[in-house]
Formats: sequence, structure tokens, C-alpha cells
Amino acid sequence: MWRKIFGGGKSTSVPDGDHLPSNFAIDHGALPRHIAIVMDGNGRWAKAQGRSRSAGHEAGARTLKRIVRAASDMGIEVLTVYAFSTENWKRPQREVDFLLNLFDSFLEKEIAEMHAENVRMSFIGRRDRFTERFLRRMEDAELRTANNTGVHFNLAANYGSQDEIVRAVRSLAARAAVGEIAPEEIDAELFSNALDTAGDPPVDLFIRTSGDLRLSNFLLWQSAYAELYFTDTHWPDFTPEELARAIEDFAGRSRRFGGLDAEE
Ligand code: FPP
Repeated sequence: MWRKIFGGGKSTSVPDGDHLPSNFAIDHGALPRHIAIVMDGNGRWAKAQGRSRSAGHEAGARTLKRIVRAASDMGIEVLTVYAFSTENWKRPQREVDFLLNLFDSFLEKEIAEMHAENVRMSFIGRRDRFTERFLRRMEDAELRTANNTGVHFNLAANYGSQDEIVRAVRSLAARAAVGEIAPEEIDAELFSNALDTAGDPPVDLFIRTSGDLRLSNFLLWQSAYAELYFTDTHWPDFTPEELARAIEDFAGRSRRFGGLDAEE
């Protein structure tokens, strides 16, 4: 699949007219296993074009579809994107409603195709505050794609990393209180498995679009040793080609995880 878009030494087109760089080749072992993306800048993209914020979010949804497909074709194991934070409820009700409807119709329209492309879809974040209809749509998407073996696509909705950590601490404390686990058994592995991303490898590459240099409460525990990639590109303009550039950049980084380089 990787070769399908990157191989051949010439630029090959992928759906929706995106082009990937020629002579792009990364050894599969050098690929990030888990990529996280803060999809920022829909509003600024729309403003720059004199269009409504809603138009920006719609364009962002089209970009998301292309990026999930590209990540899948590249052989990325896990892609986690930040769609709606626990703080985004503070936005004007009209925008909140628009976003939730957009997520709902995205699932309705895209899940069959993602399933056909072997994508496994999950949601991370709090399950309260959503409508019954949307909850059912989320659960259907998860159930339907549960046995797929391609990219694991996590959509973070009503997600905040501190909230996720507090929920994990509470669940472990509750298990300790009834004697199911001893407090000294709690280690990094047990803790990781109490998070919404249980079973996924840690984040290797953390991408944020649209120029702001912050993590915004996204995957803080999971990104402990992530390589960070910031770009000024607004999310609707982010392409598989730029994803490929971020991955090339990642492949050139020296990751020491607190240790030293081999030659040092
Ligand atoms: C950040 O842009 C984006 C969001 C808060 C929502 C993310 C939503 C999408 C990418 C739409 C598609 C998603 C799905 C799941 C269909 P912003 O509004 O904060 O932009 P700004 O900072 O420029 O105002």
C-alpha cells in the first residue's frame, strides 16, 4: 500500500487531486507508529477567504478524510485527531451544534468507505453530553470496524487529556479500594491501559497545524517522548504531501528517550 502512493520515483495522484512528493521513500521501520494531529485553523482559513467558520469546518472534514486515507496507505498504525475538546463547549451554541452535526454526517457518510478500507475507528473522550443518536452512531462505527486490521483511527471528541488522566486515576483508585489491585502494582503500563488509548503505542509524531505552538491538553501522557511538528498551514490546506514531509522530518530526528546517541 505504501508503494501505491509513494513508490515509483514519480509523483502519483491520490483521490481528490492531492499529489505526494516524488522520490519520497521511507523505510517502514522509520515510520512513526502513532501520529497525533491537532487540526487547528479552520476558522482562520475561512476568514482569509471571506467565508463562514462553518465553511472552514466543512473543508476541515474533507481534509480529515484525505489524511485518514493517506495514513492508512502509508501503513501508519494509529492516527489520533483532536476534533472537539472538553473546552470547545464554550464556543457559541450555533458553532457547537454545527460541529456536532458535521461529525454525525461525517460518520454517516464515511464509515462504509473507511470500513471497506480496513480502518478501525474508535472514539476517545467523555461520552456524556452527546445526543443518543450520536452516541449510537459512535458505537455503531466502533462495533462495525472493530475487527479491521488497518490504521486505528481515534477521533477525540469531548476530549481533554487532564480529564482523561483524572478518569484513569479514579478507575485505578476504585479498583485499589476494593482490593482488586494493590497500589504498588500501579506502574506506567497499568496506567497507560487505564487511558482511553489503551492498547495503542505512545505518540511518536505530534502535529499541530495553523501556527500556534502549544499542546492544548491533547494526549499529554501519551506524547511524553513525541517529536513535535508545527506548521503554519491551516488544517483545510493540510495535504497528504505535507503529512509525508512531517514524516520525513520525523525520520531524520535523533530520538534518545532520555539516553545518549549510540556514538556518544
Ligand atoms: C480547530 O479550528 C478545529 C476545531 C475546533 C474542530 C475540528 C473539526 C474539524 C477538523 C472538522 C472535521 C472533523 C470531523 C470529525 C468531521 P478552529 O475553529 O479552532 O480554527 P481557528 O483557531 O482558526 O478559529
